[in-house]
Amino acid sequence: MPDTDVPVSRERLLEMMTAFKSTYLLRAAIRLGVFDALAAGPADPDDVAAMLRADARGTRVLLRALAAAGLLKADGEQFTLPEGARELLVTSSPQYAGGVVDVASSDWEWDAMRDLAEVVRNGGTLLDANGESADFPYWADFATHLTFATRPGAAFVADTVLPWAKERESLDVLDVGCGHGLFGFALAEGDPRATVTCLDWPKVLDVARRHAERAGLGDRVRYLAGDAFEVEPDGTYDVVVLGNFLFQFSARRCVELVRRLAGRLKPGGRVVVVGFTTENGPPAADYHAHMLNLLMLAWTREGELHSTAMYRKILASAGLTDPSTAERPGLPLRIVLGHQA
Ligand SMILES: C[S@@+](CC[C@H](N)C(=O)[O-])C[C@H]1O[C@@H](n2cnc3c(N)ncnc32)[C@H](O)[C@@H]1O
Repeated sequence: MPDTDVPVSRERLLEMMTAFKSTYLLRAAIRLGVFDALAAGPADPDDVAAMLRADARGTRVLLRALAAAGLLKADGEQFTLPEGARELLVTSSPQYAGGVVDVASSDWEWDAMRDLAEVVRNGGTLLDANGESADFPYWADFATHLTFATRPGAAFVADTVLPWAKERESLDVLDVGCGHGLFGFALAEGDPRATVTCLDWPKVLDVARRHAERAGLGDRVRYLAGDAFEVEPDGTYDVVVLGNFLFQFSARRCVELVRRLAGRLKPGGRVVVVGFTTENGPPAADYHAHMLNLLMLAWTREGELHSTAMYRKILASAGLTDPSTAERPGLPLRIVLGHQA
């Protein structure tokens, strides 16, 4: 998050003007396998080039730039991994985070944002294939690689819902716009009675199915393919989860959808809205949410990040009672809950 109390300076401007170069530097290093190549120990550019099957000059320039950016350590012509790189950037590590580059720095985001000024003039996306298109390919990447907020977000959902769910006779969950499915799966992992119905586009559900099988939840998960605004879920649910979903749409469409979904809740059931929100405090406090809001502008017609106050209003307008908000220190996601009477 930038420090907004310091004056605008040439240094800050230069950092923002050239930020794309560090994005592409990291992306190239991950895609080429530089960090894996250095996992066995120090190497010089010619050795690394041979391991990567890449050009020697290209590799030398890349390694030096990575060292300049602090992603490698250089000792003369020998390059090594600095602290944190083995854990986060070597593919065999259980904490490997490099795959997120295909989401956070994806070509789909770049293409949507490349003419942001024109997007602003237009007031919405310029793309024919965009975030609202059926099976927009970005969503399968998102479901595959997740974001840094996904697992902590799933734990937040589980910790919020499971104590309440203990008192209920069942825990049937509908996860709308499930993506990877991990929010619903966290509930199933925490409560052996739980079933999860995942609703998303067909190719995204293929990814969710793989996550469910890896988690050993295959027989407790069902899949509902199609447009959340059109598909009529069968059955009734204790919990409807809407994770990072509603900000793709206007408040009016959110009310329309939540009202329909609330009709599928069992008595006393809950709608759980979880995701990034932009609040009314200092914008820098919600820096990542505001950057995400630019993306919603660039690849939807009416999407816009809503505040928790707006979500409470949406839930109330959809007929749910006692809308409330939950936050977790250090996590950029917030939860808004509404109850079926
Ligand atoms: C930002 S992702 C959220 C994934 C997950 N719930 C999370 O919070 O990490 C949005 C998901 O909504 C899905 N989606 C977008 N529009 C949809 C629609 N009209 N019907 C069904 N799914 C949709 C996308 O395919 C994507 O998986």
